Amino acid sequence: MAAPNGGPDREVQTMTVQRLMVAGGGMMGSQVTWQAARHGLEVTVYDAFDAGLARCRELEESYRDLFVAERGADAAEMDAALARISYTTDLESSAAAADAIIEQVPEDLGIKQGFWERASAAATPEALLLCNSSSLVPSAIAPVVAAPERFLSLHYCVPVWDANIGEVMGHEGTASDHYDRTVTLAEQMGLVPIKIRREWPGYVLNALLIPFLVAGVELVRNGVSDPADIDQVWRICNRSEIGPCQMVDMTGMNAAYHVAITVGQTEVAEWLKREYIDKGRMGVETGAGFYDY
Ligand SMILES: NC(=O)c1ccc[n+]([C@@H]2O[C@H](COP(=O)([O-])OP(=O)(O)OC[C@H]3O[C@@H](n4cnc5c(N)ncnc54)[C@H](O)[C@@H]3O)[C@@H](O)[C@H]2O)c1
Repeated sequence: MAAPNGGPDREVQTMTVQRLMVAGGGMMGSQVTWQAARHGLEVTVYDAFDAGLARCRELEESYRDLFVAERGADAAEMDAALARISYTTDLESSAAAADAIIEQVPEDLGIKQGFWERASAAATPEALLLCNSSSLVPSAIAPVVAAPERFLSLHYCVPVWDANIGEVMGHEGTASDHYDRTVTLAEQMGLVPIKIRREWPGYVLNALLIPFLVAGVELVRNGVSDPADIDQVWRICNRSEIGPCQMVDMTGMNAAYHVAITVGQTEVAEWLKREYIDKGRMGVETGAGFYDY
């Protein structure tokens, strides 16, 4: 959205982001961290839990190995990227040191608002304040943010390095300079910026994707067909590399669960929780979901 507020401010426009705070070191946060570190940014991962940070550290090391072993990346460069990442449970100090904060805490409005209330109060007066949510629009969080004119969404798709879009969406109070700075940051991180012109639940990606994924899950839940056959139909007929059940496994059952709740599909959400989440089948990251890996 081309935000109405704020005229051009050259000083702000030319400020580039060097130090990033990534809040929430889960599936999404770990990938955003690796993408940013690989593109030269210094990243501090903040997570409320030591276990979250430990998992993130392991994921970063696994991405380093993946890039070296399977993607032909230079080992020394990937080690340098790893060395640009630090980890903390101290919200205020990491927020105060960041040029931009990118938040990936769980898809729960209360958790996100709680984070932003504290983080925006601690941030510098120039810091970009970027939320990342699969279904919440920034105006749902903006009222608790200390500087709403610097607050907007930067939304990714996983895996971030292959599905490298960055959907940029402001709310009515987002200043246009900060919107533009976010577009620049997305480019700096090796993403293709997608300018969303107005608030829209699901952005572009999830407005297309969520009905598709829910339809796939519903076919499994109702015993219509098996995940492998459902995926096969989509792969063959749509000339795609993966089908809906594979996609849910990649995104993670937790994210699918929260999204199903947000779009009012409570029965689907409860079924995912009962059949997969409660059994530790969280998707690719835990080695099992609809499929065993
Ligand atoms: N997974 C995806 O494909 C995807 C894509 C786009 C956007 N997102 C969005 O990213 C966000 C995170 O999703 P995810 O899949 O990474 O979830 P996840 O459950 O894998 O990770 C969440 C992380 O947040 C930490 N956490 C929990 N409470 C916290 C708090 N109060 N403060 C700070 N950290 C806290 C957890 O320890 C965990 O490390 C969600 O809003 C989701 O909608 C996810």
